[in-house]
Formats: sequence, structure tokens, C-alpha cells
Amino acid sequence: MIRGAVLRAAAVAAGALTKGGSSALAPLEGGQKYAQALGASKAWSRGYATNSHDHFNIHRDSPENNDTTPFDFTPENMKIVKEVLARYPENYKRSGVIPLLTLAQTQNKGFLTLSAMNRVAEVLETPAIRVYEVATFYTMFNRSKMGKYHLMVCGTTPCMVRGAPKVKQALCDHLGLSDYGESTADGLFTLSEMECMGCCVNAPMIAVADYTKGVEGFTYNYYEDITTKDAVNITEQLRRGETPKVGSQHRSKCEPAGVVYEDKWVPTPEGTETLMGTPRGPYCRELKKEAAEQKQ
Ligand code: FES
Repeated sequence: MIRGAVLRAAAVAAGALTKGGSSALAPLEGGQKYAQALGASKAWSRGYATNSHDHFNIHRDSPENNDTTPFDFTPENMKIVKEVLARYPENYKRSGVIPLLTLAQTQNKGFLTLSAMNRVAEVLETPAIRVYEVATFYTMFNRSKMGKYHLMVCGTTPCMVRGAPKVKQALCDHLGLSDYGESTADGLFTLSEMECMGCCVNAPMIAVADYTKGVEGFTYNYYEDITTKDAVNITEQLRRGETPKVGSQHRSKCEPAGVVYEDKWVPTPEGTETLMGTPRGPYCRELKKEAAEQKQ
């Protein structure tokens, strides 16, 4: 069970994230145009390719995050540390960096402080920079304080096409947030974006990391086939301490039994609601025709 909790959390990884403010990164203007085309009421505010819940990969000391912030594994979690380290040869302890960072983060309510990373380095007998490199590369590791529930909206193509910008907007509006990377004032929710989570057939979807029940009770669940109404309902159920239905919100799994189309669940899709009808455009340019015209 203990191993399950760590492995479940450790199975979650993606690309490196930071949040805007660096002039070295190019704005993704296409995202904004796309959101406007889909009718999201506010501007698409994701400015940078590597942006989500963490504001910077650069560490900045704060009262709650500096190298004197207390952190050590609890006695129960030290047993897990030993179990993890036993998987690797004595001279390859550092191979345990991801499970141990995951454990440290989960114990610390979703947030890897500098002292937590330093403790992991100490346990692994490896230079701290080796741990920082991993912690700042994977989106599964949060370098800023998180809400009790970490809501992550999938922002990759199939979910974007199926309504992710509207889901983001609905969650921002409902929670009083203006963008990814923000938390609610009561510390209950943090909203982020993640890249594809492998549920494209049930797009759009969100994932929720639940840090309310410690390492043993930690969950990382997917909620799929969601409309904006579903997304808001899920947050309200979490707020009430309930357990929302995991997986597809409208079908059993991913059987061919409907689709989310224009923010509504359509049980029997037809025409442009399927891949069988004629796409309504905009269409690709006819390159051959253009080339022929240029020759004339
Ligand atoms: S694009 Fe969202 S799960 Fe793959």
C-alpha cells in the first residue's frame, strides 16, 4: 500500500515548467488566437511554453522556503525511504531521486522546499544540484506552495480542440483566479496546466492531486469527458470533502458512446460531431493550386 502510494505519485511526469516573466522565452501567440476562436471570454493568458504552477525554476528564499525551513522524513516515511533505496545498488543510490522527491513532496503537502530537496540529497549521498536538476525539470514537482487540491487542466491538442480553454476559464471564474499558477485565498485549490495525460480519447480532461490525506491517502485522479459544468461540480464536491466520480464523467470508460462537443455531452454524435462528417473548416491552403497559379 505504501509502495502503491509512492509509485502512483511517481508515475506522473512531464516537461519542465516555469511561469512567465522571462524575456528569453517566446510568447505562444497561437494559443491566444485559438482560445479567442473557441469563444473563451477572456484573453488566453498562457504566455510561455514552459509555464504552469511554478513561477520560476530559480529558487528565491522566502519565509516558508529557505535552507533553514525544517524538513525531515517522518519515521513512517523513513521506512519507505529505506524500501526505495533497497531497490538500487549501494553505489547507485541516486537512482532513487524521483521516488524520494515524490515522497518528500507528498509529505510536505505538495510542495518541495529547498530544505526538502537538500534532505533528499543528503539521504542519497549525492550533490544537492543533482536533486535540484530533477526537481526543476519535471512538472510533477512543485517548487511553490500548493493548494490542498492541485487542479491540472490538460493543454495539449486533443483537449484544446475539445474545450480545454473553456474549462480553464470556467475554473478561473468559479475559483476567482485569473490564470494558471494561482491558488485560491483559502488555500484549497491551485490551478495549473499539464501536457497530455494520455486520455486524449476522453478529451477534455483534468487531473487532481489531492494532498489532504498525507502520503498514505494521496491520490492523483483523472476526470475525463468534462464539460465546464462538470469541472465546476468536481471542485465543489472536493470542497465538500466528497469523492467525485473518477474517469469519464459520462460513459463507462472510452467506449464509442458519445463525445463532449461545444461544452455539451452528446450521446449520439452526428455530422461534424464525429470524424465522419465534413469538417467545417478553416481548411488548409491548397498548396498545389497556389503553386500552379504562381507559375502562370
Ligand atoms: S491531449 Fe489531453 S489527455 Fe491527451
